[in-house]
Amino acid sequence: MKVVDAIQTRRSIHDFKKQLVNEAVLQEIFQIASWAPNHRLKEPWNVMVFQKEGAQSYADLVIESYLKQGFAKGYSAAKTDKMMNGIKRFLINIPHHALVYLDRDPDLHKFEEDYSAVCAFIQNAQLAAWERGVGALWTTSPYIHDPEFIKGIGLHPASHKVAGVIQMGYPARIPEPKARRKVQLTFQSESFNKKI
Ligand SMILES: Cc1cc2nc3c(=O)[nH]c(=O)nc-3n(C[C@H](O)[C@H](O)[C@H](O)COP(=O)(O)O)c2cc1C
Repeated sequence: MKVVDAIQTRRSIHDFKKQLVNEAVLQEIFQIASWAPNHRLKEPWNVMVFQKEGAQSYADLVIESYLKQGFAKGYSAAKTDKMMNGIKRFLINIPHHALVYLDRDPDLHKFEEDYSAVCAFIQNAQLAAWERGVGALWTTSPYIHDPEFIKGIGLHPASHKVAGVIQMGYPARIPEPKARRKVQLTFQSESFNKKI
């Protein structure tokens, strides 16, 4: 697949088949992703893949976080239960949850560089996955900022940032593309005076 085709045909996948992706294929996808540009060659990405029974425990932590954040505020116990069971069923039906995290560099400039590199890594992973017929959805749901959730998966909120979770698996349905706006480039080809 040409790079440009992968970029343009890749879609965010919301419906996955139950079938797991072979672990060697996942390893290859993230290995390719690691060719993302990264300043000082820090390769700041780390990936934890929740799957099978691990996805159940992961889903429990997500639900705990949702409840704590008041997602079911005002609902009866029965309605809350129904809603949370629905979320759990939805989450455990996704074959893989690849959580991508990085160390928090105390230097803000370096942290921004690392975070940017991790975002490039995530998009590389999505494209490499797409080329292999594997679908992905880049998610940044609120629980990635919840210190209890972060501790629950064995990380340290003060020293780790969760950049996102890539839901992965073979697509059951591929959505129609959403059109993009024309990118407006502003060319400045003449010398100019400082604006301030
Ligand atoms: C940083 C980031 C976070 C995202 N978070 C979510 C999310 O939480 N839930 C979701 O359904 N899609 C999420 N998306 C996917 C976008 O909704 C999706 O890329 C957009 O609708 C365009 O669709 P396409 O990727 O199929 O072109 C996220 C994308 C990015 C880059």
